[in-house]
Amino acid sequence: MLSGKKILLAITGSIAAYKATFLTRLLIKAGAEVKIILSPSARDFVSPLSLATLSKNPVLWEFFDSEDPEGKWNNHVDLGLWADLMIVAPATANTISKMVYGNCDNLLLAAYLSAKCPVFFAPAMDLDMFKHPSTTENISKLQSFGNFLIPSGTGELASGLHGEGRMAEPDEIFDFIENHLLSNAPLKGKTILINAGPTYEPIDPVRFIGNHSTGKMGVALADVATDLGAKVHLVLGPGSVWPTNAGIEVFHIRTALEMNEKCQSIFKDSDLAILSAAIADYRPENPSDQKIKKDGSGDGLNIQLVENPDILFGLGQQKTEKQLLLGFALETNNGIANAIKKLHKKNCDLIVLNSPSEKGSGFGHDTNEVTLIDKNEKQTKLGLKSKKDIAKEILEYVIENFYN
Ligand code: CTP
Repeated sequence: MLSGKKILLAITGSIAAYKATFLTRLLIKAGAEVKIILSPSARDFVSPLSLATLSKNPVLWEFFDSEDPEGKWNNHVDLGLWADLMIVAPATANTISKMVYGNCDNLLLAAYLSAKCPVFFAPAMDLDMFKHPSTTENISKLQSFGNFLIPSGTGELASGLHGEGRMAEPDEIFDFIENHLLSNAPLKGKTILINAGPTYEPIDPVRFIGNHSTGKMGVALADVATDLGAKVHLVLGPGSVWPTNAGIEVFHIRTALEMNEKCQSIFKDSDLAILSAAIADYRPENPSDQKIKKDGSGDGLNIQLVENPDILFGLGQQKTEKQLLLGFALETNNGIANAIKKLHKKNCDLIVLNSPSEKGSGFGHDTNEVTLIDKNEKQTKLGLKSKKDIAKEILEYVIENFYN
């Protein structure tokens, strides 16, 4: 769940700050991108150098970088907007109180106030501070603002006393956040087959028939679906970009026949299949096992092609009532009419019309402009956006229209 997530880890001045180093390692190991900000007093407890090394990012604590000759400004708004989630761990009584009242006298608090993402906080303090009505009320207020409390544990405290107020252990914080994301994931429990990229149909050992697809759209769908809680099997053609989410099971194939075999075997256990791959419609009938030499006669070369299986059509025939099938249509002309024909012929629940001729759309671009067409031929046009945003909107459409 945390792979590819941008996490802003905010560490405040408590002895429990050392545990944040272990938490950083867990987050990095899970594939998250971590940026760390400290309250000024946190530096008395943990070294920015250790944290920068572990997080692979500079660690910030001041509005103006005193070590930079030009006094670079650390933009709290950018940090707040960058984050997919923010974790304040340890959260001292002082910082909790300032968060409640919108106090903003350091970079960490300014980033908190700028953050639009979910914010988790893990209190750490001595038992009497923890039990004090001010603290109890502040914690409740922070929760009422929509922040998520990671409960403190009971045990030996830095003061030598025994009681409640110990910051949760790094693995408990990690599990809490992962479980939170999972329980709020709308595609939790769904298994999704996605294919992406081109296929290469061999002519001889060094040549093939292929196309310009890079797989970007399908890979974005795989990443976003995994972020939304799905188990994704991605059947990926050669030369395609790679997904960032480590939770995706990737199967590399080269030819349409290999893609067909893999998709067929995965489809029966899938809730949803999204076929975004640019599969070659034809393959050379008898690929040569040796490099074809030119004979110099000037007569040209004929290669006999045979049709490849239509994978989407095949899956449409097998589809059960519980399964959803989503196809793509790549059209250079009469887009809507052709896409509607494909939608019905291939028994899809939804088809995504892609027009490579539109500016910024299609193969290799980072952006796309598509139209979704459902079985009732209702059209929903998604404007020109990054492929990641298009992927989000396609999956949001699926969730809203088929899983609600
Ligand atoms: N598709 C498939 N198997 C093929 C060809 C296409 O599964 N052999 C799938 C694509 O992944 C896409 C949909 O069918 O989801 C439509 O593909 P597209 O290339 O637009 O159309 P074709 O069906 O190949 O028809 P044409 O090339 O004649 O437009």
